[in-house]
Amino acid sequence: MKKIMLLGSGELGKEFVISAKRLGQYVIAVDRYKGAPAMQVADEFEVINMLDGDAIEKIVTKHRPDIIVPEIEAIRTEKLISLEKSGLTIIPTAEAAHLTMNRDAIRDVAARELKLKTANYSYATSIDELKNAANKIGYPCVVKPVMSSSGKGQSVVKTPKQIELAWNYACDGMRGDKLKIIVEEFIPFEFEITLLTVKQRTGKTIFITPIGHRQEHGDYRESWMPAKIKPQLLKKAHTMAKKITDRLGGAGVFGVEFFITKNDVYFSELSPRPHDTGMVTLVSQNLSEFDLHIRAILDLPIPEIRYYGPSASAVVLAKKSSDENPKFVGIDKALSLKNVEVRVFGKPSTRPNRRMAVALACSKNIEQAKKLAIKAAAQIKILDC
Ligand SMILES: Nc1ncnc2c1ncn2[C@@H]1O[C@H](COP(=O)(O)OP(=O)(O)O)[C@@H](O)[C@H]1O
Ligand SMILES: [Mg+2]
Repeated sequence: MKKIMLLGSGELGKEFVISAKRLGQYVIAVDRYKGAPAMQVADEFEVINMLDGDAIEKIVTKHRPDIIVPEIEAIRTEKLISLEKSGLTIIPTAEAAHLTMNRDAIRDVAARELKLKTANYSYATSIDELKNAANKIGYPCVVKPVMSSSGKGQSVVKTPKQIELAWNYACDGMRGDKLKIIVEEFIPFEFEITLLTVKQRTGKTIFITPIGHRQEHGDYRESWMPAKIKPQLLKKAHTMAKKITDRLGGAGVFGVEFFITKNDVYFSELSPRPHDTGMVTLVSQNLSEFDLHIRAILDLPIPEIRYYGPSASAVVLAKKSSDENPKFVGIDKALSLKNVEVRVFGKPSTRPNRRMAVALACSKNIEQAKKLAIKAAAQIKILDC
C-alpha cells in the first residue's frame, strides 16, 4: 500500500480517490477549504493554501507520503521540484506540474522546443504590448491571462477597440500576481478534442478513444465519446501527444487538448492529470480515466481497456452563490431515464456557474447519448440556486 497525498480535492480528485481506495491505497486529500469533494472519501484531509510552499512542506513532514498527486494547477510547484529532489514521487513529474502551472511555459515547450503546430501566439505585460501583439497576430484573437483556468479572464477580441476591455478582463480574471497575458490567433476549428493519453513507466503509451466537447465561457458543458475525427488527423494527434508526454516524462494520465480543422490538428494545451471532459469515461469504458491514472501511478498493468460504446456527459451548474449545503432535487427524475448515471460532487457551497454534478449517459450513437445526458442534467436542480 502507498500513501498518496492529493493536492486539490475537487470532483476529479474525488473519483481518483475512489479508484485509489478500490486498489487499497491510503489517501490524504488536500485543498484550501474543508469538506471538499475528495476529502469526503479519503482517509485523511488537510486544509492549506497550496500556493504556500511552507504549508506544503509542513504537511509532507507530518504525513510522509510516498507519492504526491497534483489535481489542480495552482500549486507552489517550485516546492514540488525540491520535494522530488529529496526522493518523493511527484505525478507525473514535478517539472510537468511546473511547466503546466501557467500557459506560457507549456506553450513554449510545445511550439518552440517540440515544434508542434499551435495557434500563433505572443505575450504581453502591458496594454501597449497587448495592442502590438494583437495587431501582429490579427483579428479576431484570443486573450488569456497566462495564470488562469476554466476560461477565467479569457476573451475573443474582434477589433482593436476591444483591446482595453480584454486587458482589464484578463487582469481581473488572473490568478496570482503574474501580470502576463497570452494573445493567440483565433482558430476557427470544426471541433475540439481531448486525447486522454496514459503514460506508463514500463508499458507503452496508450491513447484513449478521442473525446469531443463543447465549451461555453471557457468551461466545458458537454463531452462525448467517440469524437468523429478522420483517421489521419487522429494519427497526427497521437504523434503530437506522444511527443509532448514523452518530454514531460513520468507516469499517469494526461488530457491533451487539440483543435481540429478540416485538414489539420493544432495542439492547444494539456493537463498532466485526468481531464474534466474525461468524466465521460466513468460510463464509456471498464477503466475510467481515474482508474487508468492510479494504475499508471502504481505501475500496475493495463492489459486491455474495454470500450462500451457511444457515451456523453453534461454538467449541472449552480446559478447563484450560497454558503449553505446545496440541496438537490430531480435526481430521481434523472435516474429514471434508462442508461443514465449521475455524480453529485458534494461541494459544500455554490457560486454562479460552479460545476456541482454531472449526468452521464450511454446510447446507440453520440447524438442520442448527448441528448440523453443533457436531458438528465436538466432534471437536476439545486434548491434556491
Ligand atoms: N486560439 C483559440 N482559438 C479558438 N478557440 C480557442 C482558442 N483558445 C481557446 N479557445 C476556446 O476556449 C476554450 C478554453 O481555452 P483553454 O486555452 O483550453 O483554457 P482553459 O485552460 O481555461 O481550459 C478552448 O477549449 C476553446 O474552445
Ligand atoms: Mg482547456
